[in-house]
Amino acid sequence: MALACIADTVVTLTDEAQLDTFMANYVEDVEHRQPLFVLSGGSNVLLPAQLNATVLQPQMRGINVTAQTDSYVDIEVMAGENWHDLVMHTVAQGWYGLENLALIPGLTGAAPVQNIGAYGVQLEDSLQYVRAYHLPTQTWHQLTAADCEFGYRDSLFKRHPNTWLISRVGFRLHTDATKVLASYGDVQTVAQSYAKQQGRKQPAPADVMHAIIDIRQQKLPDPKQLPNCGSFFQNPIIPQAQFTALQARYPAIVGYAMPEAKMKVAAGWLIEQASLKGGGIAPIITHQQQALVLTNHAPYQATQDDVAAAQRYIADVVYQNFTIQLSREPVWVNADGSIGYDEHEV
Ligand code: EPU
Repeated sequence: MALACIADTVVTLTDEAQLDTFMANYVEDVEHRQPLFVLSGGSNVLLPAQLNATVLQPQMRGINVTAQTDSYVDIEVMAGENWHDLVMHTVAQGWYGLENLALIPGLTGAAPVQNIGAYGVQLEDSLQYVRAYHLPTQTWHQLTAADCEFGYRDSLFKRHPNTWLISRVGFRLHTDATKVLASYGDVQTVAQSYAKQQGRKQPAPADVMHAIIDIRQQKLPDPKQLPNCGSFFQNPIIPQAQFTALQARYPAIVGYAMPEAKMKVAAGWLIEQASLKGGGIAPIITHQQQALVLTNHAPYQATQDDVAAAQRYIADVVYQNFTIQLSREPVWVNADGSIGYDEHEV
């Protein structure tokens, strides 16, 4: 989001043993130690101007094949690997399952935290395990996908911030080039035209990946050019009865069925209907092509408070219109490194 932030101390970790050494000293130094804050690629955080914490930055690199059969490949990826580069690499190798998650910014170690998801696929679909360090007890753990307690944009790591430092992620990818998921929105049409260019009847995983890259580039602003955190709000999940009542008033409302008689509503649609496409409080305004994304038009000048003001304004207007409370998706970091997930505190 390009919010200027100065931290007291930053510790870059290029291998796991460095963390053991750092933590051994840290626990001894009761007098001087500061709170710890784990920062990955920084693409989904809202930082304070001054961060009075010791920032731990996992930057370990490496992609290793740990098992291989005719139908699948197991890989172990170190936390500091760039996510999109990993997706491109796996597809180029003929290892499939991550192609729908192309062009998501950030590093691999952060991907399990919010269980990144796009175009019908979530990280949990191919994740096998996470190797992570438990900061309070200074111990390493291997967590299975079930241990990670994944949900929509949610996990154990997200619910217990600054508790775990993820160092490796294990995936099981498949090798069947005919198995693709291209049913979401206009993915099918774009993927089909890529397939045709390549002389294929059906889209292959690489075609789906290129289609998704195109669609994302059209709808989502490039954070390098116009700072943003991707979707700023989560798509709210409401009871089916409330959705049905809203549908009677707004027949075009966009929603997806969820378990337990719930509906997930497209927050971008709600914001656009509330006449807030391109709206907000300058310099923090919603993107013209996708109202779910807040953009920062004053990079390194706008502050966390500016973001909070725009968030509150948009959420209030949406609530007045639809009686639906929007929740923030990116991580709000307080000056002491603690995490304020609840936007009502802001
Ligand atoms: N819509 C509008 N107006 C808008 C934006 C969206 O009417 O300004 C409508 C669209 O027409 C569509 C529906 O809302 O019918 C859904 O929009 P879209 O397909 O663009 O997806 P989304 O729900 O806005 C979610 C994820 C994205 C992910 C896409 C594709 C969340 C919070 N966001 O967006 O994730 O890329 O689906 O799967 O779940 C991210 O997390 O940063 C992110 C970009």
